[in-house]
Amino acid sequence: MDIPLQPWRDTLEDLGLAGLVRDPPALPSPAPRPPSEARPPRPGPGVPPAVQPDGPGARPDPAAVAAAPSLEALQTLIQDCQACPLGAGRIRLVFGEGNPSAKLLFVGEGPGRDEDLQGRPFVGRAGELLDRMIASIGLQRTEVWIGNVVKCRPPDNRTPTPQECQACSGYLRRQIELIRPRVIVTLGATPLRELLGITTGITRIRGQWQRLEMLGGIPVMPTFHPAYVLRQYTQEVRRAVWEDLKAAKNWADGPGEAGAAPS
Ligand code: URA
Repeated sequence: MDIPLQPWRDTLEDLGLAGLVRDPPALPSPAPRPPSEARPPRPGPGVPPAVQPDGPGARPDPAAVAAAPSLEALQTLIQDCQACPLGAGRIRLVFGEGNPSAKLLFVGEGPGRDEDLQGRPFVGRAGELLDRMIASIGLQRTEVWIGNVVKCRPPDNRTPTPQECQACSGYLRRQIELIRPRVIVTLGATPLRELLGITTGITRIRGQWQRLEMLGGIPVMPTFHPAYVLRQYTQEVRRAVWEDLKAAKNWADGPGEAGAAPS
């Protein structure tokens, strides 16, 4: 089912917020290739191997991951990761994409079928809605960073296990350190649990600022996952997400000190 922009716009108009939704941006032509779309080159002779040669459980060296000097270097390091069973089932690793200096960083759960096929985050139906959510606060997808807790698709789109999330956690943390966002928006329960250890139901906690103790403290705004919004396509849910994203953008745009948490 295609979810057109009009219902989202209608909702905002119902709420007296007409005029605040922009049309989704036309894709530039030709569309820029996100770093994750092209498989990074394998290291040549003389370059240390990205993956420790320790058999079927081969995982990128955690020290190298923690010291990766750029997103591109990190992507190269983890491209062949087999640190958890999801590695064996993936078609493509979904590294994440967007502005490497984004003020807003969105974190979802993990790739689905479309993302696994394309190697890009949020390109299926939930991704279409995420694009519209981002457009509703006046931004384009290319202005933010979009990533996931796990980089490989869990079978049947199930929730990744704590072990799978743990195997990937150093990658997400290094991404956050390299991007240095002013605000992180967590989409649904899994990123909130993995980044902050919060297991309170998302319905109760969404919209309430949290704080990630990294880089002096990063404000975190929990909101609903777009897949949930698709299932519960009510005015109340859409309005809640819009309020959360507006608050996140306002803080990201504002003069707030790095490390200070919004109240
Ligand atoms: N759902 C997610 O959590 N992440 C994606 O990339 C796609 C769907």
